[in-house]
Amino acid sequence: MSGAGDQGKALARWLGTGLLGLFLLPMSLSLEVSVGKATTIYAVNGTAILLPCTFSSCFGFENLHFWWSYNSSDMSKTLIDGIVKNEKVDPKVRLKDDDRITLEGTTREKMNNISIQLSNLDFSDTGKYTCHVKNPKERAEHNATVFLQVVDKLEEVDNTVTLIILAVVGGVIGLLIFVLLLKKFITFIIKKTQEKKKECLVSSSGNDNTENGLPGSKAEEKPPTKV
Ligand SMILES: *[C@@H]1O[C@H](CO)[C@@H](O)[C@H](O)[C@H]1NC(C)=O
Ligand SMILES: *[C@@H]1O[C@H](CO)[C@@H](O)[C@H](O)[C@H]1NC(C)=O
Ligand SMILES: *[C@@H]1O[C@H](CO)[C@@H](O)[C@H](O)[C@H]1NC(C)=O
Ligand SMILES: *[C@@H]1O[C@H](CO)[C@@H](O)[C@H](O)[C@H]1NC(C)=O
Repeated sequence: MSGAGDQGKALARWLGTGLLGLFLLPMSLSLEVSVGKATTIYAVNGTAILLPCTFSSCFGFENLHFWWSYNSSDMSKTLIDGIVKNEKVDPKVRLKDDDRITLEGTTREKMNNISIQLSNLDFSDTGKYTCHVKNPKERAEHNATVFLQVVDKLEEVDNTVTLIILAVVGGVIGLLIFVLLLKKFITFIIKKTQEKKKECLVSSSGNDNTENGLPGSKAEEKPPTKV
C-alpha cells in the first residue's frame, strides 16, 4: 500500500517540477535584445549611421517600453524613449533628446526592430549606445550595447587584417602542402636509391669478378642477366 502512495507522491513531484519548469521557462525566454554581431560600429563625421536594435519576444507583448541611452544606464541620459502598444502597431516616441535621432524599423509583422538613425555625426557622438526594452509584466529590463566610433575617414584596417590573416592561412596551408610534397619526393628518392642499391647488390652478387678489376667498368661489359 505504501509503495503505491510513494509512487503517487513521486508522480506529483514530477508533475510539479514539470509545471514549474513550464512556468519559469517563459519568464527567462520572454524577451531578448540584440544590437547585431558588431560590437563596434565605425562611422564618418558628418554622415548618418544606423544603430541596430531588435528584440525577440516568444509570448507577445503589450505596452512595451523601450529607450536608448548614451554612455550610461542612467535614465537622464536617455536619447529616445517610447512605447509599443502591441504587435500590430509601430512604436510611439514619447520623448527625444536630439533632432538628429530618428527611430527606424518597425515593430509590425514580428520585425521587432527599434533601430535608430543618428545623422550629422560629430566626433563627440563617440560612445556607448544601449538599447533597452522592458515588458511591463516583468521586473527586469533587457538591454544590448553597441559602441559607436566616429572617425574622419574609414580606414581599410579590417580588410588589411583579413588579407593578412588569409595570406598567413594560405601560406601555412601552402607550406604544409609543400612539406607533404617534399616528404613524398624525399621518400620517392630514398626508395629509388634503395632500389638502385638493391639492383647493385643483385648485379654485384651476380658478377663476383667485379671485385677483381675496376668496379663498374667491368660489370658493364657483362650484362647481369646471366644469373
Ligand atoms: C570631418 O572631420 C574632418 C577633420 O576634422 C574635417 O576636415 C571634415 O570636413 C569633416 N567632414 C564633415 C563631412 O564634416
Ligand atoms: C542592462 O541590464 C542589466 C540587467 O538588468 C543591468 O544590470 C545593466 O545595468 C543594464 N545596462 C545598462 C547599460 O543599462
Ligand atoms: C531594422 O530597420 C532598419 C531600417 O528600416 C533596417 O535598415 C534594418 O536592416 C532593420 N534590421 C533588421 C534586423 O531587420
Ligand atoms: C562617452 O564615452 C566615450 C568612450 O567611453 C568617451 O570618449 C566620450 O567622451 C563619452 N561622452 C560623454 C559625453 O561623456
